[in-house]
Amino acid sequence: METPPDTVRYAVVRRTDGGRVHRSLKKEAWLDPRIEPLTFEDDEVAFPLTDAADEDRLIHLLGVPVRLLVQAAAVRDPVDPHGKLQKAVNDWLSAYGLAPHYLADVIPKKWERLGELALLPAHLSSNAAWTEVRSHPNIRALWTAMASALQVTALGIQHPIADDTFRSSQVEMLVGSPEVRFLDHGITYAFDASKVMFSSGNVTERRRIGTLNMQGETVIDAYAGVGYYTLPMLVHSGAAIVHACEINPASVAGLKEAAQLNGVADRLTVHEGDNALTLPALQGMADRCHLGLLPSSEPAWAACMAALKPTGGVLHVHMNVEEEHIDAWKARTVERFQQLAKSQGRHAAVSAEHLEKVKWFAPRVRHVVLDVRVRPLAP
Ligand SMILES: C[S@@+](CC[C@H](N)C(=O)[O-])C[C@H]1O[C@@H](n2cnc3c(N)ncnc32)[C@H](O)[C@@H]1O
Repeated sequence: METPPDTVRYAVVRRTDGGRVHRSLKKEAWLDPRIEPLTFEDDEVAFPLTDAADEDRLIHLLGVPVRLLVQAAAVRDPVDPHGKLQKAVNDWLSAYGLAPHYLADVIPKKWERLGELALLPAHLSSNAAWTEVRSHPNIRALWTAMASALQVTALGIQHPIADDTFRSSQVEMLVGSPEVRFLDHGITYAFDASKVMFSSGNVTERRRIGTLNMQGETVIDAYAGVGYYTLPMLVHSGAAIVHACEINPASVAGLKEAAQLNGVADRLTVHEGDNALTLPALQGMADRCHLGLLPSSEPAWAACMAALKPTGGVLHVHMNVEEEHIDAWKARTVERFQQLAKSQGRHAAVSAEHLEKVKWFAPRVRHVVLDVRVRPLAP
């Protein structure tokens, strides 16, 4: 790929139009991937344009208020961040008279980035060398240098997601704020990363859900979290309304904030609390239900089948399944939904429409999503 330009044309739009504009620019190959989009405080987003972007066609294509801005390109840093992190750690060690090789084997090789926050792996809490370094009186200077090497303002350690109902995040903050806001595939997410989890590993599934056509549909997200699927369904898939069920107040706060930021709050109804209590009120209303809880969403299967309209619909069923048992699980799941339909007096054909292997959850265990289609049969 060629060297990115020093200045670039940006298409500046309201943040609430960001999702649609991102999608259109990407489709036309008018979005320059080498350059960071910019966000402005007055709730605007600026997308960097490629040379191919035709200004006259652009305004017509986007169909939303847009202004063009030419300014210095915020070029994505091509320098190896691993090298920069290593240098930051070694500089700090030598500044405090410690041997540079001291942490050589345990400098993080991977991290998760959520906006201005980088989450480092859990070995920073358990490794003996790190434990000693962390008791140093000037440790804050190391965190600040590491954050700057990773081009963020906050650093934390990601411990395994808590095995509680909320699937709480267990982030130990080292420096900076846990409140994150970031743009992913044209959608702004917002939440307190020390209170709620965000699974970056589910990116392919978030994007797949965003490509499905849900124009005019009433959708239920039974485990909405901060909107991993609710937001793509509203912003990209065109769902007419999403009923989002969520039990964790911290996730509800993030979801509501993000819905405002993406301009979809008027099509979102949040049902706060246990979905065992909220789903029964949604009986017979939905064209589609999303069941995104791991290791299993089974507790909500019956209520989601009952929530489908008499005209049927689609259920997106998440589950952790051992690789060699995926086919058997798929057959059992279709059978189980068939039984549920029958026991609820629904005369319907139930079939598996698609099985998506999202990611490896553990050795031999896959996070999968089965799209189950429910079609009414003639009496
Ligand atoms: C794993 S997170 C969502 C993750 C997201 N679907 C993904 O795959 O990235 C599951 C969400 O379901 C919520 N949750 C768990 N049990 C619930 C229940 N009984 N009723 C409503 N929400 C629930 C949790 O608080 C959490 O925000």
